[in-house]
Amino acid sequence: MNLLITGGAGFIGGNFVHYMVNKYPEYNIIVLDKLTYAGNIETLEPVIDKITFVRADIADRDAVYQIFECEKPDIVVNFAAESHVDRSIENPEIFLVTNILGTQVLMDACRKYGIKRYHQVSTDEVYGDLPLDRPDLFFTEETPIHTSSPYSASKASADLLAQAYHRTYGLPVTISRCSNNYGPYHFPEKLIPLMIANALNDKLLPVYGKGLNVRDWLYVEDHCKAIDIIIHRGRVGEVYNIGGHNEKSNIDIVKIILKLLGKPESLITYVADRKGHDMRYAIDPTKIHNELGWLPETKFEDGIVKTVNWYLENKPWWEKIISGEYMDYYAKMYENR
Ligand code: NAD
Ligand code: TYD
Repeated sequence: MNLLITGGAGFIGGNFVHYMVNKYPEYNIIVLDKLTYAGNIETLEPVIDKITFVRADIADRDAVYQIFECEKPDIVVNFAAESHVDRSIENPEIFLVTNILGTQVLMDACRKYGIKRYHQVSTDEVYGDLPLDRPDLFFTEETPIHTSSPYSASKASADLLAQAYHRTYGLPVTISRCSNNYGPYHFPEKLIPLMIANALNDKLLPVYGKGLNVRDWLYVEDHCKAIDIIIHRGRVGEVYNIGGHNEKSNIDIVKIILKLLGKPESLITYVADRKGHDMRYAIDPTKIHNELGWLPETKFEDGIVKTVNWYLENKPWWEKIISGEYMDYYAKMYENR
């Protein structure tokens, strides 16, 4: 089996590469990644001898076609994306190029060279948000697409395109829409790793607005397991929601992290809210459970301890990131907030 994983040097893609290398040592795994600011080849270091790594842009048609010609993938799993909402608010364009056109190029290559499955890794953010005062509401696969940020709009566009390629050209597509992930190798611009890194450095922890926005957190390995099941047993043309009914407000997450690290809550600082900030995400995972038997295995209380410990034990991985060009981004986004 030739498995092409795009965006495999990022957070979830990297975890998925580790998971698949260990679970399927007989597979030929090819990782395609542009190594943007969010991609880190060091994430793949433990498995680098067991994969083929190609640095390329999914929106570069010639490069992508060449990789398909050489590697002849049977299954393609597309994680490659610009993934940070705040960056999409500052500059949407690269989100449209990578997330929409890049997806199109990959699917064109799949049509041209033939594949058994193209899997699009999407997000619950395509459904927009839910109100805080309706805890009975959840996103199902039937919830209408209703995006808020340039990021979610670009991901929704890619989903619609994938469904169009399935219906129009018969491309064997599946789509998964997962809630917020956390775990090892998470880039420290996202909430959980940013708060861990800042707390460890006794820096202020910037909470947007009142910190009441709710996210539905899933340990990254559970997401990887769900994708593994979908690419092998999921029905072609279907969308599967992935989430573990683990809703928490941002302020609660930040307080849990401070407690685990033995740091004071006085490090919390409330800053200007994100524009168009989604209030609540909450996934109904009934379909993937009933059809494919998937259930999350890691409880939040355990997953967050594992995550904090990983950041404590892998300081060189993230310290290198926060000492580099990322600091310019941090200064721009937070200094006048
Ligand atoms: P990430 O930002 O950590 O990693 C993205 C990876 O894609 C990086 O390695 C980057 O170098 C690569 N990349 C970016 N542009 C590229 C291009 N043009 N060509 C090739 N490679 C490129 O993102 P992540 O958090 O790991 O998310 C992975 C996927 O999962 C994304 O599609 C995202 O929308 C989706 N998703 C993320 C979450 C989450 O909580 N992080 C939740 C649901 C879905
Ligand atoms: P994030 O990790 O960027 O994921 P997403 O926006 O895709 O859900 O943010 C998670 C939540 O944390 C979101 O409600 C915004 C909030 N947040 C902060 O309060 N402060 C921060 O510095 C960051 C990065 C996020």
